[in-house]
Amino acid sequence: MKKAKTPVPHPNAVPHGSVHMLRLCEGLAYAPAPETTPVKIDATYGLFIDGAFTKPGRTFATVNPATEKTLAEVTAATASDVDRAVKAARRAQEKVWGRLPGRERGKYLYRIARLIQEHARELAVLETMDGGKTIKESRDIDLPLVAAHFFYYAGWADKLDYAFPGRKARPLGVAGQVIPWNFPLLMAAWKLAPALAAGNTCVLKPAETTPLTALHLARIFQQAELPPGVVNIVTGAGETGAALVNHPGIDKVAFTGSTEVGRRIAASVAGTGKKLTLELGGKAANIVFEDAPIEQAVEGIVAGIYFNQGHVCCAGSRLLVQESVFPEIIRRLRDRVSTLRVGDPLDKNTDIGAINSRQQLEKIRELVDSGVKEGAELFQPRCRLPKAGYWFAPSFFTGVTAAHRIAREEIFGPVLSVMTFRTPEEAIERANTTPYGLSAGVWTDKGSKIFKIAAKLRAGVVWANTYNKFDPTSPFGGYKESGFGREGGVQGLLPYVSLE
Ligand code: NAI
Ligand code: MG
Repeated sequence: MKKAKTPVPHPNAVPHGSVHMLRLCEGLAYAPAPETTPVKIDATYGLFIDGAFTKPGRTFATVNPATEKTLAEVTAATASDVDRAVKAARRAQEKVWGRLPGRERGKYLYRIARLIQEHARELAVLETMDGGKTIKESRDIDLPLVAAHFFYYAGWADKLDYAFPGRKARPLGVAGQVIPWNFPLLMAAWKLAPALAAGNTCVLKPAETTPLTALHLARIFQQAELPPGVVNIVTGAGETGAALVNHPGIDKVAFTGSTEVGRRIAASVAGTGKKLTLELGGKAANIVFEDAPIEQAVEGIVAGIYFNQGHVCCAGSRLLVQESVFPEIIRRLRDRVSTLRVGDPLDKNTDIGAINSRQQLEKIRELVDSGVKEGAELFQPRCRLPKAGYWFAPSFFTGVTAAHRIAREEIFGPVLSVMTFRTPEEAIERANTTPYGLSAGVWTDKGSKIFKIAAKLRAGVVWANTYNKFDPTSPFGGYKESGFGREGGVQGLLPYVSLE
């Protein structure tokens, strides 16, 4: 059916302060439904080195960003702690792990995967408390994927001879892995599972605002009787991360985080012979054509940008809408965004949890202010946000030009920039006009159009008529300033082996 042509209003004509804004995004219709699974959090944590927890050293606090209350004190690993961890990993690689037949390594990984499933609920609660993401997401998305990654790579451990036909895959040795705070346990799984399956040992550094689930994962390694030193976990901030990636005793660096730090790591690793993979930022285009199923597209737009408070490197943060459907999309988006419930991340009905840290909240505020100053129009449902903690209401901008900072820079928060286009060529050009190249989305009724457009998008992952879907069998990674190397799938083994 052909859609009636509606005149396109000036983007700034989006009504602001209309009745929609009074529909509070705190979900008054729902009674509180807190997740009550108890989790035992220690007052202080040491480092996990050579199969055991060290005595806590100098510590720093990790807070619950929804309350600003300290959850625990965690040890800031020094360069000599990192050195001990790397040496333990080396011993374990040479004496035990690297010598085990693949099927034996696989058995450990299967055991770890099953233990993660057994402890999934408490790990989900801990993830939500330490990082601010909703329990709905940590329980239904993060934890199942964490287990799935271990299961998937467990399956590869005894099949490496078939992974790269005609080539023999050998482990590299010790991997130094630095991960961010947006998917703490999932990023740990993405890094550890393929490395271990291929016969490497690991030293992992979680992010300073979300170290707790990695430390609890270490207990699962103990329960699984993983040989000492195969995985070591050193907590701390950037300094600890730098000590790890610069340690001469590692063979491979894997980093997920900001482009700025990624660039620094690439410079310091250059010429050392260490293998490197970087998974950095993004500013993905989510492209909606006029022939798209509009209602589903709006759900996809919401999932694309508001999932995990927008703390997602592959978030669909630039919405490109074909002009003819712009008014309808904006109307529906306004309605939908106004129904999102912001608040207690441990409440099972919450859609948008806490911003991970004060620092990230400030970054989001700064970029949103720049959007307003540069002349874009902000839509934000009026939310009564909790007093304590770090919060940002789900927002979107219309009237955005390609020159605005909010169209170019990664906001990493629940803030969408909406732009329009007329022709498919214009959509492709706009989508590719970014220094990043991690992901993209295409919404259209026509399969042929999906293939045509997807082939021209310079992005590592392109979703069609869906968004933010992850699977351990599917490779993930970027082009350009989004980094290089792939995680997931058989491709995810490649960064952890040398081929003969
Ligand atoms: P970041 O890049 O500083 O932190 C990521 C990890 O790197 C953390 O574990 C951190 O301790 C570590 N790190 C920091 N400096 C290091 C160094 N010199 N050497 C080795 N490791 C180091 O990211 P940050 O400051 O937390 O976030 C800033 C921005 O980065 C965000 O606003 C977002 O735009 C982007 N980001 C992208 C992520 C992604 O998934 N691609 C994840 C986190 C942040
Ligand atoms: Mg925390």
